Amino acid sequence: MAAKISLSRYLVEQQRMEGHIPAELRLLLEVVARASKSISQSVNKGALGDVMGGADSENIQGEMQKKLDIIANEVLIEANEWGGHLAAMASEEMEGIYVVPNRYPQGEYLLLFDPLDGSSNIDVNVSIGTIFSVLKKPEGVGVSEQDFLQPGCKQVAAGYCIFGPQTTLALTVGDGVVMFTLDREQGSFILTEENVRIPDDTQEFAINMSNMRHWDAPIKRYIDECLQGTEGPRGKDFNMRWIASMVADVHRILTRGGIFMYPWDKREPGKPGKLRLMYEANPMSWLIEQAGGAATNGKTRILDLQPTKLHERVSVILGSKNEVERVTAYHSEAVDGAAVV
Ligand code: AHG
Ligand code: MN
Ligand code: MN
Repeated sequence: MAAKISLSRYLVEQQRMEGHIPAELRLLLEVVARASKSISQSVNKGALGDVMGGADSENIQGEMQKKLDIIANEVLIEANEWGGHLAAMASEEMEGIYVVPNRYPQGEYLLLFDPLDGSSNIDVNVSIGTIFSVLKKPEGVGVSEQDFLQPGCKQVAAGYCIFGPQTTLALTVGDGVVMFTLDREQGSFILTEENVRIPDDTQEFAINMSNMRHWDAPIKRYIDECLQGTEGPRGKDFNMRWIASMVADVHRILTRGGIFMYPWDKREPGKPGKLRLMYEANPMSWLIEQAGGAATNGKTRILDLQPTKLHERVSVILGSKNEVERVTAYHSEAVDGAAVV
């Protein structure tokens, strides 16, 4: 039987390969994995630990925080601040950036995270996860919020850890997508999937249908055509899934294909979308692209968007390439004035 490859071994071997990951990045990824293991333990305690329910506080985006949002945020900060690999961190749950305290050495990387994605699913025992993205700090003394405002194509590593029936860590360092499953007896992540590929076509879409009346014409057109099934212009039936944890919807798409959309809608016209560019859209888009899929905001490739602020929101369409290209084309046809139903 072939030897099991742990995440540590995989990363060491990646480091040895010329041009792959530097030692500091390897350390960083090991620490993120360790923190994810710890978050996984807390998630698993459920009602047996003090981890369920709300925290009676609001985050910077005006959303009520859950206890686990705060626990996961603290775990990630405590695990990452002392290793010397980071200059600063930014999180969906913190207003400003967290600069590594002076008592610790400063490294050259920046870590961004959505500590707990899918918070509304915690109390109902549905899959949730931690999403992370790593950037290189630009040259120069000190570190500021400005240093984080880099487009997603500048990421040097990205991934997520999903806490579901299994705890699985998906990772890219720009050389495809790999997945590791947590072996609880051994306490280590074991490589279980290499060269993850998303099929170009799909018959499965994920969108919150309750927002339908607020959507823009191109999204309405796309979904309407899917719903017409074999009798419509697509000539095939579609299936629908919506987990309300992006991490779980993206995991399904990486596993068997599909398209995920959280588009801009008319509820709050001034808001570009619900999802956060830096903590959700960028890392997930890079994973999807690295697995052969595509990700746009309807007009532009997500990874090319220049962020203007840390907590920027964005419209997200990602998944199987041909479907994402179709939705994106419907947007440009609408702009060009062509008939869009
Ligand atoms: P978070 O829990 O980090 O705030 O993210 C929740 C996000 C995303 O995971 C999911 O796809 C979406 O919100 C669900 O939104 P709706 O409840 O509007 O469907
Ligand atoms: Mn989230
Ligand atoms: Mn979150």
